[in-house]
Amino acid sequence: MAVAGRPDAHQGHDQHLSTAYPNRYYASTYGRQAATWIRDTWAGLAAGRSDVTTELFTGCTTCSTQPSVLLTVKGAELPGEVVVIGGHIDSICNTGTGDSMRAPGADDDASGTATVTEVLRVALKDGWKPKRTVVFAGYAAEEVGLRGSDAVARSFKAQGKNVVGVMQLDMTNYDPGNGIDMAFLTDNVNAGLTSFGKQLFDTYLKPSGLVRGDMTCGYACSDHASWTSAGYPAMMAAEPEIFPSLHTTGDTLANLGNTAQPRRSSPRWAWPSSARSPRPPAPSPRPRRPPPPRRPRVARCSPTASPSPACPAPPAP
Ligand code: CO
Repeated sequence: MAVAGRPDAHQGHDQHLSTAYPNRYYASTYGRQAATWIRDTWAGLAAGRSDVTTELFTGCTTCSTQPSVLLTVKGAELPGEVVVIGGHIDSICNTGTGDSMRAPGADDDASGTATVTEVLRVALKDGWKPKRTVVFAGYAAEEVGLRGSDAVARSFKAQGKNVVGVMQLDMTNYDPGNGIDMAFLTDNVNAGLTSFGKQLFDTYLKPSGLVRGDMTCGYACSDHASWTSAGYPAMMAAEPEIFPSLHTTGDTLANLGNTAQPRRSSPRWAWPSSARSPRPPAPSPRPRRPPPPRRPRVARCSPTASPSPACPAPPAP
């Protein structure tokens, strides 16, 4: 199978996001600058496409000045059915605040954002026209309680948008060397959609010798949970173990081994080069929405809080 992703392109995005700004904290000057850079980069990839729109989503009232970034490719056949692939653009550190915080967040989540960007680049370069509408998302203010994704998901819900599947990519770069290449989250996700993601992995990556595993967060640990709460089917894929330098000044490409290998697998899985032929197995029947999640929203755990059942240590992505 040809490798669709370009590790150097992925690394370039991660490198920029984790070094060009002291942080991407939602309530800092840089949080907005990083969002604008992502919007401009994505718009550049979509240059000349009249069916693509790029926007800074400012509908979050608790995201300070950081917008979320949304790029929408209108579906050619089923534009009313929406697929979302995203990661979060903000970063955080256990120490410091505002502009003085040093939070490179190379893994959390420049890596997921870079993966989303690489999927977009590869998908668009051949004049890709998706059957369904596809939204590429960079969420604001994830680290302080999934605020950006919550606002986006609620906005889609209020507009009556028919979101048929959401993929979250949060922390996709760390290789703990445990023999597992990608982990599928088991909680706050849609089981049917997760199963479909595993089918794709088994079809396109397993033949290359890559191995998948499962991971449980124990709480609403990333933006997939916002979509689940809104009643939409969501899944998340990530590195198989949490990067030990999460939420510290040490979340750098250097500490990730300086490879920024896109977990070797994530862009290829999210957009396998052979995805157009043969087609991946269809989810049949289409994943149904999960039972109404009536549980209370679980606040994002503070990185400095004492461990508790709701906020186990170490903190998840
Ligand atoms: Co994260």
